[in-house]
Amino acid sequence: MKSITTVAQIILLFVLTPLFFSSCESEATTDTEDVAVVDVEAQIEALISQMTLEEKITMIHASSSFTSGGVERLGIPELVMSDGPHGVRHEHGRDWEKDLNVRDSSTYLPVGTALAATWNPELGYAFGSVLGSEANFRGKDVILGPGLNIIRSPLNGRNFEYLTEDPYLNAQMVVGYIKGVQDQGIAACAKHYVANNLEFEREKVNVEMSDRALHEIYLPGFKAAVQQGNVLTVMAAYNKFRGEYCAHNGFLLDDILKESFGFQGAVISDWNAVKGTMESVNVGMDLEMGTDLSMLGSGKELDYSKFHMGDTLITLVNTGVVDVAVIDEKVRRLLRVMFATNMFDERSPGAYNTKEHQQVARQIADEAIVLLKNDDKVLPLKKADIQTLAVVGANANRKHAGAGGSSQVKAYYEVTALEGLQNLAGESMTVNFSEGYQIKKDGGADAALIAEAVRNVAAADAAIYVGGWIHGYSDEWNDNALDAEATDKPDMNLPFGQDELIQALLKANPNTIIVLMGGGPVDMQAWKADAKGILQAWYPGMEGGNALASILFGLQSPSGKLPMTFPEKLSDSPAHKLAQFPVENLQMDYTDDIYVGYRYFDSYDVAPAFPFGHGLSYTTFSYEDLSIEKTGGLVTVSLKITNTGDMAGAEVVQLYVKDEDSTLKRPEKELKAFQKVLLQPGESKTIQLELKEDAFSYYDDTQNKWILEAGTFTLLAGSSSRDIRLEGQLDW
Ligand code: GLC
Repeated sequence: MKSITTVAQIILLFVLTPLFFSSCESEATTDTEDVAVVDVEAQIEALISQMTLEEKITMIHASSSFTSGGVERLGIPELVMSDGPHGVRHEHGRDWEKDLNVRDSSTYLPVGTALAATWNPELGYAFGSVLGSEANFRGKDVILGPGLNIIRSPLNGRNFEYLTEDPYLNAQMVVGYIKGVQDQGIAACAKHYVANNLEFEREKVNVEMSDRALHEIYLPGFKAAVQQGNVLTVMAAYNKFRGEYCAHNGFLLDDILKESFGFQGAVISDWNAVKGTMESVNVGMDLEMGTDLSMLGSGKELDYSKFHMGDTLITLVNTGVVDVAVIDEKVRRLLRVMFATNMFDERSPGAYNTKEHQQVARQIADEAIVLLKNDDKVLPLKKADIQTLAVVGANANRKHAGAGGSSQVKAYYEVTALEGLQNLAGESMTVNFSEGYQIKKDGGADAALIAEAVRNVAAADAAIYVGGWIHGYSDEWNDNALDAEATDKPDMNLPFGQDELIQALLKANPNTIIVLMGGGPVDMQAWKADAKGILQAWYPGMEGGNALASILFGLQSPSGKLPMTFPEKLSDSPAHKLAQFPVENLQMDYTDDIYVGYRYFDSYDVAPAFPFGHGLSYTTFSYEDLSIEKTGGLVTVSLKITNTGDMAGAEVVQLYVKDEDSTLKRPEKELKAFQKVLLQPGESKTIQLELKEDAFSYYDDTQNKWILEAGTFTLLAGSSSRDIRLEGQLDW
């Protein structure tokens, strides 16, 4: 529990009360919230006025691997942080000790791309609530998530941790997540601010981009996190932006984040992202974490006062080189986070590894799995027709929770795809597993493994292949395709000879179902036409195996939709076609500009393997009666959607806006609203989607502002970015 001793609280109240009233505006504040804010701000100012310079400096840098300094004299405890975005990471101890042999397992939620694939903002809130409750139970104050960097290249090793290629979907999913975490009394952390869209040399590369791309693609998720989610912390990214490290970047941290967006919380550096004292202290970098002390001549004792924003500042302030007001502002923001995380009040105990949390993990997995292809209605499988089920693929039998780097989770349990299928099979079905390929250095799909897998699927009544990316540790292999931090994939090819294996399986049993796990698209050209059933399962968390089995056997209909485009091949990806790849001289110029994902594929008329927003159901939906009403600055789009099949299912109705007359070039279409609708067979619902002026505006970088130009707009309603069912027009 984070609370100061009662004595200190009483002192605070006696000290603060007169201050509080003296600092109030002349007119009495009526709104209780305002009183609370003024009260907190008054308490913060009172604390700062009592602190010594040394105490202030203690607070603005790490005091251990995942804590920052407190001031015991004033009852200010340390701020305790923990990774990660989809589960509370295992304990590290104060100096990265491993395996402390403590009870630190936790709920392993589906990864970010899976959450985004649900297109269900309510699940974003539920996701955040679980994460916040478990962080609370484990005595944390800050959970270092969500990761919301835009998915720009399929090769980024950390795409699995993020959400989507689209700025609007990013914002919608991240706000609920943040509110869910922070309603548990825990601070969320929007990361990595900004343009950390590859892992290649992430601490050295410099990103250049236009103001249009910055404001229309890369900032909206962070802007929503601040202005709609009221996020309490933001993590400055490792990379440089326009020549300056993000952690030293006044344009990003002060001009945009704090002044333009109005961010009142604290900026935390990524671990070791601060590279210098004057560069960080004089910009809105509030808390230095993870600096590599060995680079600072610190001995084994890990002397945290040697951080860049450490004791060296005492002399700099005392000699007038640095204004103490700059330090005060950092402390002020950190104290705001502390008050907001109820550090000064009793916080509810939180909970972890509960059935309720596991059910949330299951529901997200249920709604995240995307049915990409279902020719000849090969799915769902009918349990009554199957005595023998073949399951092939090393990913079917692999636990993924502990992989990926800092987002790793010590899962309380993890149901693999194979276990989920075995659970569902029960006694009535024999499940035969073949590894098919081996995930290890110099592993792969050798002739013997392929032959054994072929025999298995040929002899079975139904066959399921589970393959895809390798969710490993970046230091595990240095030459294989990995979904992990600090590494990127060399290409989109399935690793370990899976293409050859899949082709052999489809030859032996054309109805073999292909399930892919991973953070994003793979090149499926070798077998996509021959496969009748293909699903994307991401890394679906601790209940993923059960969710996958229930969908494959039709206990529920799939409802996931792709949060990113799946290109046919890597060279079709705009980050590779319109921008320089691989990166040369550590310079990354985003010349793909605003044409990220479907904005490129649809504007340049390039057919993807599977489009943004795509996902099939076991039922079908009709779209009718589109109407558009404009009242002042509000546009309301109504349409009727009907479940025209014989199974319950949820459809994500997507609304895209096309500007027919813009002065500056705009993408073919842009997602500006969506709604997920669950319908019983034959059921209809008329839904309403609201668009405000910002849905029609674009960032004019010749005037450095958002503008809404008069003219004609087409509104496109559909089941994916390329499956438009209805459209209408309106004039502004
Ligand atoms: C890592 C990651 C960041 C993580 C931090 C602490 O390098 O970039 O996402 O929260 O360090 O582990």
